[in-house]
Amino acid sequence: MYRICITTIVTLVLFVFVSCKDTSVKQSNSEAVSIDSLLQNRYEKLLEYPLDSLSIPRSYNPISKEIFKVEPKDWTSGFYPGNLWQLYKLTGEEVFKNKAVEWTKFIEKEKYNDGTHDMGFKIYSSFGEGFEVTNEEHYKDVIVESANTLITRFNKNVGSLRSWDFNADIWEFPVIIDNMMNLELLFEATRISGDSIYHNIAIKHANTTLKNHFREDNSSYHVVVYDTVSGRVNSKVTHQGFNDNSAWARGQAWGVYGFTMCYRYTKNPMYLEQAEKLAVFYLNHSKLPEDGIPYWDFDDPNIPNVVKDVSAAAIVASALVELSTYTNNDTYLDYSNKVLNTLKTEEYIISPDIDAPFILKHSTGNWPKNDEMDGPIVYGDFYFLELMLRIKE
Ligand code: GLY
Repeated sequence: MYRICITTIVTLVLFVFVSCKDTSVKQSNSEAVSIDSLLQNRYEKLLEYPLDSLSIPRSYNPISKEIFKVEPKDWTSGFYPGNLWQLYKLTGEEVFKNKAVEWTKFIEKEKYNDGTHDMGFKIYSSFGEGFEVTNEEHYKDVIVESANTLITRFNKNVGSLRSWDFNADIWEFPVIIDNMMNLELLFEATRISGDSIYHNIAIKHANTTLKNHFREDNSSYHVVVYDTVSGRVNSKVTHQGFNDNSAWARGQAWGVYGFTMCYRYTKNPMYLEQAEKLAVFYLNHSKLPEDGIPYWDFDDPNIPNVVKDVSAAAIVASALVELSTYTNNDTYLDYSNKVLNTLKTEEYIISPDIDAPFILKHSTGNWPKNDEMDGPIVYGDFYFLELMLRIKE
């Protein structure tokens, strides 16, 4: 009798344990299905959006409910085609590729625009992605032609590519940390063409940035202004951060991504070390929230009552997938996975009733100008898709 009782109790306990386990699996499966369908819905919105060479989606204002659209000359124009190329890579569905081809064509004329350093953002995010998918000869030519235009902005005395032309009466030769991202186009142009000129300029720019752009604590300045005759630094300021000495989250993100990418092309340990220093500043910061999505600037005194920047999180998380392959440090990939899990939730994916061709909420473009605050921005989606692809690979 006693034995039968014990057996029954054990069986019951086991049954309850197995049932609970089963339920939790079922719950997480159904949750996964619903997140996947939420994402699928967003992908379709990108596909459905009408082609227009002068209205490339850049961001969505959650208050006015308007889509902000730009012309190809805007620094963000390459991301929308880039998102479609990445959706093709992610889903294998030809419809995304066909749309990507069409949107990419609109950006081509930018290959001759020598008035900006944003060539990499525009051309590499569109034609670069397209080249990776198709190996198309014409895309290759556009990449090299764009690199030829970009290097006209290189100043030998400074050892850098000039970032902006505006504010020229105050900033003689401004270089922003974001400019590191444009070096990928130059490295690729050398790889494709065999001409080392682009690679060498990229290295010079990276070395000058490494020397002048970072504080003792490994946070990044946004803008470093140079004297074009002596090549010396005139000032170190901000344009999009809280103040000249603050750590603007996306600036730090561009630095982490930029130096990781430089290491990919050069295998110079100096770049790897710099990427790790910048990543450690970001990951260990006491103001980085538990869910991994940073506030827009680490030094905003009103944290936690300030907006976050999903784009910074996506850029760093994508970069750290790559960085983790060069090191034995698990914390990098742990962060990337954490960000992916955070972003793949209803808190961050735009709900199906919003008719705008974007995926994620809560990016912040330009806080000092109160512009593109806490909403969907095209480059947040770009690095989120890249993060998903990199984790998958
Ligand atoms: N490159 C400009 C920005 O990150 O907002």
